[in-house]
Order: sequence, then structure tokens, then C-alpha cells
Amino acid sequence: MTILRVEKVISGYGAMEVVHGLSLEVGEGQIVSMLGPNGAGKTTLLRTIFGVLKPWQGKIYFKGEDISGLPPERIVRLGMAYIPQEYNIFPSLTVQENLEMGAFIREDDIGPRMEEIYELFPDLTDRRRSRAEELSGGMRQMLAIGRALMLNPELLLLDEPSTGLAPFLVDIIFDRIERLNEQGVTVFLVEQNAYKALQISDRAYVLEGGEKRAEGSAREMLEDEEIGRLYLGR
Ligand SMILES: Nc1ncnc2c1ncn2[C@@H]1O[C@H](COP(=O)(O)OP(=O)(O)O)[C@@H](O)[C@H]1O
Ligand SMILES: [Mg+2]
Repeated sequence: MTILRVEKVISGYGAMEVVHGLSLEVGEGQIVSMLGPNGAGKTTLLRTIFGVLKPWQGKIYFKGEDISGLPPERIVRLGMAYIPQEYNIFPSLTVQENLEMGAFIREDDIGPRMEEIYELFPDLTDRRRSRAEELSGGMRQMLAIGRALMLNPELLLLDEPSTGLAPFLVDIIFDRIERLNEQGVTVFLVEQNAYKALQISDRAYVLEGGEKRAEGSAREMLEDEEIGRLYLGR
């Protein structure tokens, strides 16, 4: 089943068109990656899917429902979460408070969910009472993911979670993304680290200049010579 369908979406800022009529699909239960160089429009696309930007044209369907033009606070209630690349935590709040903020629309007991998140990211447990601004880059990224998970999303949009992290932390982040996926969360992952992203993905798209340049199974892409040369640094 398709959980997310983007149909001929045009989007941008002011008068500048950035995404030029893009279509893509994310299957339920999958990890699907969006690769492409800086400035390709990857972040703009995520913002448009999550309702931060309104599509100028085209449609976005989530679980079969037309969500085009809905604001983020409506979309989040339908079970989608978006973790931006920057400004994705509250620096002056503690780890625990950040997680509580993530659950802002829940009225039930959030304790059990919080414990599950501390299990997924044990390093955060010892830092419960630390301010987020005192954490390392890797821990901040874990906290940002944990915060988004407080609402039990069915689909997670992740914008370059590994950028700027030391290699061992990159491995941890990718491992946690895989684990979440095994727990049933569908993931739409934007990454610069194309090789690693493909290794954990079912399918992938390449975006360049606001247009789709390639799509296919992750395995096909890993084996494709041209993709390897252009996007995987081979
Ligand atoms: N807030 C903004 N206002 C105006 N232009 C923007 C804004 N954010 C990004 N852009 C422009 O949109 C294009 C695509 O950017 P972006 O979606 O961030 O690409 P990517 O995430 O693939 O690196 C770039 O030319 C960038 O300069
Ligand atoms: Mg970006």
C-alpha cells in the first residue's frame, strides 16, 4: 500500500519555483531515500509535503487522504512527523522537556512512550535533565528524532539526519532509523550520504534542479554505474 503519494507538485518561495512538477510514492513500511546535490530542492519538497509550504500545483496524499495545502498542525495529527535539518530541538529546555514538548497534542499518559524512546537512545537517558544546548551534535539529532517519535508517527520525514556527524555517530543514526522501520515506522529520508542511505533503503529517488533524475530500487541504484559515478562518488 502507498502511504505517501506526491503528484506533479510544483512549489517554491515567493516567485521562485524550486520543485518543478514532481511525482513520487512511498510504500507503507518502507524506507525510501531522496538523494541529490545541495540546492536540488530536497528540503523544499519535505516542507511542501508537511504543509510548511503550500504546493502551487499538484496533490499530496497521505494514507489516501488529500492533504495538499493543509497546515502542519493538521498533518501531524494524521500521523506524519517531520524532522528538519536545523532548529529541530528547543536548546534551552532539558532533554526530558523536549520529549514532553514532542507530545504536545497527547492527552494520555506519555510515560511509557518516553521510556521506549530512552530505550532506543540509551545515551539520552543519562542526560534527561541536561539542557539540549549542552548535548553533542549526535545526541541532539537523537533527541530531535526522539521528540518526533513521541506522537507515534506512521511516517517520518527526515532531512539529512547524518550531516555533520562523526562516522561512528552516522552509523548509530542509520542503525536507529533501520530499527524504527523494523518497528513499523515508514521513513522518507533525505540524505547527502547517498551510499549509506541506499544501504538501508528499499527504494530511492534522485532529485536535481527540482526534477526527478532517477528512481528505482536501492539495490538497482547501488549497482548502476552512472548513478555510482554521479551521486555515490565512485
Ligand atoms: N527560505 C527560502 N527562501 C528562498 N529561497 C530558498 C529558501 N530555502 C531554499 N531556497 C532556495 O531553494 C533552492 C532549493 O533549496 P533546498 O530545497 O534547500 O535544497 P536542498 O535541500 O536540496 O539542498 C535553492 O536554490 C535555495 O537557495
Ligand atoms: Mg536541504
